[in-house]
This record gives sequence, C-alpha cells and structure tokens, in this order.
Amino acid sequence: MKPLILINFKTYPEAIGKKALLLAQEIAKVRKKNYLIAVAPSLLTVKEIAEKTNLIVFAQHCDPVILGAHTGSISPAELKAIGVQGTILNHSEWKIPFTILKETVRLCNKYKLKTIICASTIHEAKKIARLHPEYLAYEPKELIGGTISVTEAKPDTIVKAVEAVKKISPKSRVLCGAGVHTKEDIKHALLLGTEGVLIGHAVPKAKDPRKFLEELLM
Ligand code: G3P
Repeated sequence: MKPLILINFKTYPEAIGKKALLLAQEIAKVRKKNYLIAVAPSLLTVKEIAEKTNLIVFAQHCDPVILGAHTGSISPAELKAIGVQGTILNHSEWKIPFTILKETVRLCNKYKLKTIICASTIHEAKKIARLHPEYLAYEPKELIGGTISVTEAKPDTIVKAVEAVKKISPKSRVLCGAGVHTKEDIKHALLLGTEGVLIGHAVPKAKDPRKFLEELLM
C-alpha cells in the first residue's frame, strides 16, 4: 500500500470558500505515483471538492447520526453519498468523547467510510486502536501548527506508537502529523514505521502549494 499524504485544509483563509476548490485543483495536478494524495477540506467545501476533483477526499469530522431528524449534523451516510471516501475523527482541534467516537466509527464502518482517528499520546493511541480504524494518526497537540516536525521532536514516540497500535490492531495503518513541512520529515516518518503523514498549514500557506507539494514528495 502506498503511503498516504493527507492535506488538512482546516479553516485556513487560503483554503476556504472559493479558494478551497482552487487549492484542491492545484493539489490534484501533483503527480506522484508512489503516494496516495488526499485532502480534508472544510465541511462547507468538501462536497464541491469531492465532485469536481479526482482527489481522495476526507471530511474533517462527522457525527454519530443516521439520516433523519438531526439538525446541524454531518452524517457518515451523507458523506458517503456525496463521494467523500473517509473522515478524520478526534482531531486535537475537535476531540470526541470515547463512547461517541465508538458509535461514530460503527456508523462509518456501516457506510464504508474510511476513518483516520487522531491520538495525541501513546495512551490515547492504544485506546483508539481497539476501534480498529483504517488509519490512526499520532499527532502531539503541542507541535501542531509549528515548525518543528513531530519526526524531529518525537521520533521515539512515533516508533512506540506504531508498535503499540500494530499489537492491538495489526491492520490499522499508522500516520503521524504536526509540523511536517519538509521532504526529510516525510522520509523520516516512513523510516520510523508510519504509513503516511498528515500535513496542515504547510501546504495551504505555501506561496505555490502545487510546487511546494511536488518538492515535498520528491
Ligand atoms: O491534521 C494535520 C495537523 O493537525 C497538522 O497540522 O499545521 O502542524 O501540519 P500542521
């Protein structure tokens, strides 16, 4: 399986509204056959990007609801129906209580929506591994949005996270994220045993996101 490179648009001003599709279209021009490139646009732009690009598209979050009377909710069934392939869950910026997370994962599985569940610590990673997500992303909260990559600051913890998760859920693929912004960071992440990375600010905030991503994946 190729490593996953997931660009999380969050709600960066460079990646919302009309700019979201333009950014996604630039990312879609990046041809790197050794990687799976995916994007997680804001929940307000995810449908347009799923429809108008051939990128793998993840939602940034979803709720544990079926279709019906659930005002304001994002349901796994609707995400699937609009062409979204998966969802991030439990990001540091949107933590979910474990019982709710469990029910959300059950519904995502039911509707065949892939899950990337984030964990900020090894302890949390072990707990989440019991839900057997497709991907589990180790992201230490304090490094998110910064310029020191998790691969540089916490290489040993990444190795431990991979080992701990694989012991509990051998099929889950472990990712890491926080501060990833150079090609060395990505190479390092893969050497440490992960199967991909989550990248936040570095791509949307790059002067030329397409060129930046091309160079990142060289
Ligand atoms: O979801 C990815 C993320 O939290 C990492 O963000 O800005 O540190 O790359 P960033």
